[in-house]
Amino acid sequence: MVIQDISDNSFRRFSKLIHESCGINLHDGKKELMRARLGKRMREIGCNSFNDYFHIIKDDQTGEELVKMLDAVSTNMTSFFREEEHFQFMKKNLFPLYEKKKSEGLRFWSAGCSSGEEPYSLAMWLRDNLSENVSKDIKIIATDISTKVLSLAARGVYPAKTVQKIPAYQLRKYFQCGVNSQKGFYRVKKEIKDLVEFRRQNLTAPFNFGFCFDVIFCRNVMIYFNQESREALIKRATHCLRDGGYLMVGHAESLNGTKHRLKYIQPSVYRKE
Ligand SMILES: C[S@@+](CC[C@H](N)C(=O)[O-])C[C@H]1O[C@@H](n2cnc3c(N)ncnc32)[C@H](O)[C@@H]1O
Repeated sequence: MVIQDISDNSFRRFSKLIHESCGINLHDGKKELMRARLGKRMREIGCNSFNDYFHIIKDDQTGEELVKMLDAVSTNMTSFFREEEHFQFMKKNLFPLYEKKKSEGLRFWSAGCSSGEEPYSLAMWLRDNLSENVSKDIKIIATDISTKVLSLAARGVYPAKTVQKIPAYQLRKYFQCGVNSQKGFYRVKKEIKDLVEFRRQNLTAPFNFGFCFDVIFCRNVMIYFNQESREALIKRATHCLRDGGYLMVGHAESLNGTKHRLKYIQPSVYRKE
């Protein structure tokens, strides 16, 4: 099926809808990207006009097509142990503090977790680096707006290419190697899965976790937001951090020029005082 060109008017309408729905900012330079990503979804449902597709989304009372459209438009690139400096930072600066927190729970949030590589890396890291003295009550909440990546994450099965960066001893310890039809695939073991709870959460909508986090990973998500959405997200994330808790953003991101109440610790690491 040949998808029609996207008119300037349709591009503007989709940009506005996407921004209002999830904060992702697709400015003029992103027209081709939008055309390619939405076009894929349109082909799946047999629609070749952007104008018609816009009305399909608007007329869908269930809201499901909006979710599918946001699935199609989001960038989900991720990897195991991406930006490892954050793990080193935690080992040096946080774990000594955690040794004292024997009786309290430790709460982590992977906000914009994509297909699960980030929260599973964190879970393996915590298993290997927190000593016996530290609380056993550890929970990683992992959220994303995309239902597509969340179902991959919950499944926890990755091809060999994806697990390449995981050190061999961790791969042996925390993954089951597929056999027969599953050859070439690796499944995250239950002891790691049990530490992670996946949920759908739009970062531009209100949060309601009922507790505060020790560390929030919000990495490589805000780069797609404009200044206003970024500030609103940081404000609400700060509210969800306990005093002394940390916000980690991607290394290509910075809160420079963004209003916030966090203390800068080092590039891409901030603390709530
Ligand atoms: C590039 S990935 C980053 C994944 C991981 N944090 C990392 O650094 O490897 C960005 C993720 O943010 C998610 N995302 C984008 N906008 C979002 C929103 N408004 N609410 C929740 N998740 C969002 C996307 O679906 C995508 O999976």
